Amino acid sequence: MKRVTILIALVATLATSAMAQTISSPNGQLSLTFALTDNGTPTYAVDFKGEPVILPSALGLKLNGTADLLDGFSAGEAVKSTFDEVWEPVWGEETHIRNHYNELLVRLTQTATGRQVNIRFRLFNDGYGLRYEFPRQRRLTYMTIEDERTEWALTGDHKAFWIPGDYSSQEYEYVESRLSEIGELAPLYKRKSVTTRFSDWGVQTALTLKTDDGVYITIHEAALIDYSCMHLVYNPETKVFTSWLTPDAIGNKGYIQTPCTTPWRTAVITDDARELLASRLTLNLNEPCKIEDTSWIKPVKYMGVWWELITNKNSWAYAKGGNIKLDLVDYSKLEPNGRHGANTENVKRYIDFASKWGCFDQLLVEGWNIGWEDWNGKQKDYVFDFVTPYPDFDLPELQKYANEKGMRLMMHHETSSSIRNYERRMDKAYQFMVDNGYNAVKSGYVGHIVPRGEYHYGQLMNNHYQYAVEKAAEYKIMVNAHEAVRPTGICRTWPNLIGNESARGTEYQSFGGIHPQHVTILPFTRLQGGPMDYTPGIFCMDLSTFSPKNTSKCNSTLANQLALYVTMYSPLQMAADMPENYERYIDAFQFIVDVPVEWTESRYLSAEPGDYIVIARKDKNSPKWFVGGVTDENQRTMPVKFDFLDKKKQYVATVYADTADADYEKNPESYRIVEGKVTAKTVANIFMARGGGFAISIREATAADRKMKPLRIK
Ligand code: NOJ
Ligand code: CA
Repeated sequence: MKRVTILIALVATLATSAMAQTISSPNGQLSLTFALTDNGTPTYAVDFKGEPVILPSALGLKLNGTADLLDGFSAGEAVKSTFDEVWEPVWGEETHIRNHYNELLVRLTQTATGRQVNIRFRLFNDGYGLRYEFPRQRRLTYMTIEDERTEWALTGDHKAFWIPGDYSSQEYEYVESRLSEIGELAPLYKRKSVTTRFSDWGVQTALTLKTDDGVYITIHEAALIDYSCMHLVYNPETKVFTSWLTPDAIGNKGYIQTPCTTPWRTAVITDDARELLASRLTLNLNEPCKIEDTSWIKPVKYMGVWWELITNKNSWAYAKGGNIKLDLVDYSKLEPNGRHGANTENVKRYIDFASKWGCFDQLLVEGWNIGWEDWNGKQKDYVFDFVTPYPDFDLPELQKYANEKGMRLMMHHETSSSIRNYERRMDKAYQFMVDNGYNAVKSGYVGHIVPRGEYHYGQLMNNHYQYAVEKAAEYKIMVNAHEAVRPTGICRTWPNLIGNESARGTEYQSFGGIHPQHVTILPFTRLQGGPMDYTPGIFCMDLSTFSPKNTSKCNSTLANQLALYVTMYSPLQMAADMPENYERYIDAFQFIVDVPVEWTESRYLSAEPGDYIVIARKDKNSPKWFVGGVTDENQRTMPVKFDFLDKKKQYVATVYADTADADYEKNPESYRIVEGKVTAKTVANIFMARGGGFAISIREATAADRKMKPLRIK
């Protein structure tokens, strides 16, 4: 895979005093001003179309055991430059990404201590990034961070789409409220189990805001490498968000050593919600690809022995009972529980179904390996060796069986958050994958971290996730990590990181349901950092149908499930339901078969966070287009303009839509399929039921379609 930089212009334009400096975005709509206050505190402020969006906001760090880096700075040099390039991602929502910004680097010295800190600002047309840089210097070598004090001073009591602060989980419903309501609402949403809430005013990023003037602001971070994950704490009196890093087991928030840089602190700013979806700011602030040969990295469409486990129809574990200490277990002596999903026969059944369609690359099998009897127990150093299949899982036979049918198995490593155990076994586990024909692993970090007291989003764990991805690259393995820290665009640098969970995914439809608006918020928030393994494609919405004790309902119409393959961008897409559920609606399943996982371009047709999203994308390997639309708990009729199509051509559209009486609560599986001719001039008004949506596949018309009528859909 070539990574061609088509155009680069890097011009250092100015080197002057840094007391106060302003730069503009390439299109002039945004401007960013850096200034030092009277006591030498670095600040920045941002205007959008001449109006303030971020008021003067302080920058700096509090350190442990030494003077803070908050004030007392004097200005040195300020260097301005411009950068413009187009780069080609290994996979993505398009084949070319423009990285165009104006940059300001200010060099500061703390007068009393002589310590140097540089702050680098990059201003794009759609937002900014800033980071701290610590040059190599005698007076500043090791730093223990007490906390980072980066501020975002806001101009009003904006509407916010947020999840509560938590050091170990992002698996929340989003709350839509005014900023001033966060403190009151956060305790209601806090999870009781895994979480540690640090403040009722704490929220996680990516955080999306909307001002009363219709300006959208998404605050996040980019390139989270060797640092703690950043949260935000809101002060309702000053209307200021301040960064709040995840602590370690003894309360420190990070350890860094000069020369080094922090991750980027970012905000995407626009008055068109579609621009939030189109923004590539997070990716652009990451380093270019570090993998020389990327030919082995390929988007993946997959099925899995998974939903039957999540819904509790079957189990991951093989043996009866639990709490069995692994090093004492001789599986041949244990009694099978009779519900083990990953048995050879059942896995073959999935392969038989999936391989028929010619579109599925892989089959994920969870519960294939020994250890689930004590997987989250007290003996975390013993569970899971990642190389020993259960006695009823014939790995060589199954990989052969899959290969013969044009597929392969996907590996699963549930680490149960026992990091020491995983790291010491990792080389063997990856080599085992290579030896057995696997090239992708879904990893997971359920439960409290071992070493105890560490959090999922602390520096130690972030370094672990990064280590797992880089080590996987050595073995040409693609990684999809669940429960890891939310992504910050690192997939640009390490494109073998093809997915993450790091949010509330479809599994929650089986744990009590997900509010329909969730999928109208995720692309504006969580997906800003990278793709999510959301695992769509549920066709049987009443889970008690096949798992009698499970009273959950999937809060979505069937057409909404199809739309997610387009609206939730990921190079890794799962058809998450079971073959028997797909058999019931095999004509609708055709959309999952047809929809690709590789795109040349994406058009964001309509969007409003918390309400609706409509996206069109063009297939990378054919002239086909695909459109997806989702709505929240309200029904609505969306006008869809087909003006993204080639004006000179005729097309045939197949629309998978909600019926007039579809409804995520009352009638979720009711859909209709309508076919008709379309051109670039077509406008279709498509109905979306409550919790509904639509999916469209569009192909070029042929002579055989001569008599087909224009698309008519009401
Ligand atoms: C949680 C993951 O999100 C889910 O997909 C997986 O099946 C379980 N952990 C078990 O590893
Ligand atoms: Ca999860």
